[in-house]
Amino acid sequence: MVNKVSISTLPFDFQNIPTEFEHLKALGVDYVHCDIMDGVFVENKTYTPAMLKDIAHQIPLPLDVHLMVQDPIKYVEVLKNVAHFFTFHCECFANSSELKNAILTVKQYCKAGVAVDLYTDIQNILDVLPLVDLVLIMSVKAGSGGQEFNDSAIKKISTLNAVRQQKAYTYLIEVDGGINGDNAQNCVKAGADILVSGSYVARAYQKDKAIQTLKISID
Ligand code: DX5
Ligand code: ZN
Repeated sequence: MVNKVSISTLPFDFQNIPTEFEHLKALGVDYVHCDIMDGVFVENKTYTPAMLKDIAHQIPLPLDVHLMVQDPIKYVEVLKNVAHFFTFHCECFANSSELKNAILTVKQYCKAGVAVDLYTDIQNILDVLPLVDLVLIMSVKAGSGGQEFNDSAIKKISTLNAVRQQKAYTYLIEVDGGINGDNAQNCVKAGADILVSGSYVARAYQKDKAIQTLKISID
């Protein structure tokens, strides 16, 4: 089994996304990780879901949309035929029943992912694990690219992997933030199925080699 690689749009200019990902697809990338920030849930602001919808048909890979926004559910309508994974943060919801309702809403249209920020305990999402298609573990604080990987993510991935095995749940585990050739193997060994990368691949002189180092083969 080899993990999937999802490359973040953050290091690229919005207008160049279709061309950049044409190239990255040829190098073996599996998903386009669309980081969307609203300037409220996190300080930074990026392109909007409506802007992504406008260019989606030009992007040659499935869209792994990571919404770092305060009110994610209001974007389900606009992204419903666009997002492969529609992933939003558990921290946006007051309790697990609200979170559960949000997941059920998203699941009517696309695969639903729940994201857990760096300092959030995964206890907060245990109730929704039977429902979600994907769990995104942040290995940096959500909000910007180029930060250093935090090892606490490995423990969370291992726990989620163990729970998945014990209970026969089917969610994928994705890890996001500071991923590089040095920590990729530990993430995949712990149970990650999808590695997100922004700066490591974008800054690499030989992008093909960088992507290869993020593809880990395990039995
Ligand atoms: C951080 C974003 C990440 C990030 C990945 O808030 O969700 O997707 O941009 O970029 P690197 O790999 O540079 O941490
Ligand atoms: Zn992200």
